[in-house]
Amino acid sequence: MSKVVDLFESLDYGPAPENADAVMDWIEQKRHAVRMYIGGEWREPDGGEYFDTHNPATGAVLARVAQASEGDIDRAVTAARAAFPAWSAAPPHERARWLYALARQVQKNARFLAVLESLDNGKPIRESRDIDVPLVARHFHHHAGWAQLRDSEFPDCTPLGVVGQIIPWNFPLLMLAWKVAPALAAGNTVVIKPAEYTSLTAIRFAELCDAIGFPPGVVNIVTGDGRAGQYIVAHRDIDKIAFTGSTEVGRLIRQATAGTGRKLSLELGGKSPFIVFDDADLDGVVEGVVDAIWFNQGQVCCAGSRILAHEGIAETLEAKLRARMEGLRVGDPLDKAIDIGAIIAPIQLERIERLVERGREEGAVIWQPAWTRPRDGWFYPPTLCTNVAPAATIAQVEIFGPVVVMMTFRTPAEAVRLANNTRYGLAASIWSENINLALDVAPRVRAGSVWINCTNVFDAASGFGGYRESGFGREGGREGMWEYLRPAFAEEPAAVTPPEIAAHAPSGPRPPAVSSRDGGPGIDRTRKLYIGGRQVRPDQGYVMSVTGANGENLGDVGVSNRKDIREAVEAAHRAAGWSRATAYNRAQVIYFIAENLAARRAEFGGIVGAMTGVDGEAEVEAAVERLFEFAAWADKYDGAVHATPFRNVTLAMREPVGVICAVCPDEAPLLGFIGAVFPAVALGNTVVAMPSERSPLAATELYQVLDTSDLPGGVVNIVTGVRTDLVPVMAAHDDVDGMWHFAGDGGGAEVERLSAGNMKRTWIGQPAALTHRSPARTRELLRHATEIKNIWIPYGE
Ligand code: NAI
Repeated sequence: MSKVVDLFESLDYGPAPENADAVMDWIEQKRHAVRMYIGGEWREPDGGEYFDTHNPATGAVLARVAQASEGDIDRAVTAARAAFPAWSAAPPHERARWLYALARQVQKNARFLAVLESLDNGKPIRESRDIDVPLVARHFHHHAGWAQLRDSEFPDCTPLGVVGQIIPWNFPLLMLAWKVAPALAAGNTVVIKPAEYTSLTAIRFAELCDAIGFPPGVVNIVTGDGRAGQYIVAHRDIDKIAFTGSTEVGRLIRQATAGTGRKLSLELGGKSPFIVFDDADLDGVVEGVVDAIWFNQGQVCCAGSRILAHEGIAETLEAKLRARMEGLRVGDPLDKAIDIGAIIAPIQLERIERLVERGREEGAVIWQPAWTRPRDGWFYPPTLCTNVAPAATIAQVEIFGPVVVMMTFRTPAEAVRLANNTRYGLAASIWSENINLALDVAPRVRAGSVWINCTNVFDAASGFGGYRESGFGREGGREGMWEYLRPAFAEEPAAVTPPEIAAHAPSGPRPPAVSSRDGGPGIDRTRKLYIGGRQVRPDQGYVMSVTGANGENLGDVGVSNRKDIREAVEAAHRAAGWSRATAYNRAQVIYFIAENLAARRAEFGGIVGAMTGVDGEAEVEAAVERLFEFAAWADKYDGAVHATPFRNVTLAMREPVGVICAVCPDEAPLLGFIGAVFPAVALGNTVVAMPSERSPLAATELYQVLDTSDLPGGVVNIVTGVRTDLVPVMAAHDDVDGMWHFAGDGGGAEVERLSAGNMKRTWIGQPAALTHRSPARTRELLRHATEIKNIWIPYGE
């Protein structure tokens, strides 16, 4: 007779298939023509074109799905536009009830949706049933709440209008929920396109909308491949594009929308580090790796695809991982005991195989379990790559499959360096029993989500999104709602002179000329550039003259070139320690700058007045007040602890964007400069600022003020010159993290287009955004100066 222990050793899993009959019946009814949901009606595609969607586990065709033409997209946008006035003006409670109704529909149809998702996508039913679909319901629930609270929690904000949304195939219904729920809660109407591989749950969702009589045109679901996506991006009557998918397509969308004034959020790829310190609980780590890279076959934008292990435990961890991998089960996604399902499509499978082969060629040791993968369908085994150099292709490129690379480190500093050695910045996972160490490392890793002793945890109450080339914008939580709203002032015409300055008529005759601080004549002085805390001559030695309001020559400033910008950006990076200065310290420095500027009110007033012809002293006063305001915010614009439904603390930390280039307006040249530079500085960024091209002298005169106010060199760098020369250099610079353009001269389109290289954050604003004070404008400045990082810290034994 066998002992129990032997049974455990030999126990084989029998199949535990989920019943798919109801879903297959549903598919059978429409398999020849899955139509689109436009304006509350089911529509054939204009051109009559359909394409096949497959079951990745068998390769069999599931159904034929409509390929939207340009005319179909136009029809959907027209329907969404027509529905917008009533939907956006509906009482918040009404929108809340609709969103709540959607949440309940998802809950009531949960099993059906999970089975359909697994059939169409190939993900294990365990995941679609226990993760995807419950999170979909959670998102609609959560956003029913934001719909209810929109007006009280987002005062002075309005919805955007019609939102075009394009989603990928890895979490088809979940990505739909992440996009649709906040858009509707904010009062927008949507046209959404699922990925061509996975349209079916979106169609089922449309049926659920239809079933509850959702107002026609508020949600429009169009299907098709990248062509349909391009039509959405190109449509002129769409106010915002929200995209999740590859960085390559994200970059194209950034370029295509440049200069259109449309809002954009991009959630792109990743190569997320999974950092294991030597005191981590290695059995927990092994389960963490399973969730990090074998969840959804590794087709996860935030997959922990780079294990960085302390060299003291790397060997032990590798042995444990291999043992665990032998026990993983790959197979029929509808089998409830399956760990890893099928890869979405042959093209994706080939890409994985190609990249792994490349890894082998570049010297990596590739390890896979002894068992063989199923022959039918598109499967790939879990794969561990060791002996991988940090610069190797498989350490840098997003593989989007069940393949993980492993590298080692010796010190926390080296772990951070390796973690940040990527162009992406979506997520990171840190494993250590030492919470002090984990919380010390978390802020140093450039990523939007950091999971401590856990991984791939998501919730509607917490924002999700990237740094760097992983895109911009957040989905979920309060921060996600901002993506679907605009401050009401964005619609106001930009007045030229701020009211507090306009109120002062020019007092008496204008000052004849500029005088420098030591009282000497200013006219002959050539103002240099200010880089790294020093006044430096422009590289090429050219100067340009500054003309005053009366037409007189007020003096010369240096003309910067590409090399000067490069030096300024480098100086700004060298000053990155500013981000770690305490907020109290940053505030003190800015107060000190205000104090020193106020002490020279008459002199600066003279300079400003000579340049602009308005009362310069009023502008200096306004600038001092602005400095006080930004200093005030330095230690008050703090984060939050999100109420996510796990035993954990989810810390939403605001972090500086990094190095920001700011192009300041000609209007109110001192106030505009202060308004652009100091919110960024207050929150820990370092800045390369181009003052007004026409009237730069107030900014160049600030050098001494900055020098005498304890501002570390390199935190503010000032480069004068010609906007059309300098702006493209700044926008295309791959070491610049953010670029603000307030010149109001139409140059913003080029900024947005060129920013696509490294996906820097851009903000194209009117001069009034800086010069006209209002609480909403200030909030907007502060928001643009920061990124939100969510750090998840579980507690309990
Ligand atoms: P993709 O970025 O091409 O597709 C995502 C969505 O964009 C789909 O709905 C697609 O129809 C649409 N699309 C494609 N071209 C478009 C265009 N020019 N304009 C507008 N929309 C367009 O991703 P794909 O080709 O399915 O996968 C390729 C690679 O992208 C994967 O191997 C993976 O590395 C990465 N990827 C990353 C995702 C993420 O969540 N970060 C999701 C999907 C893919």
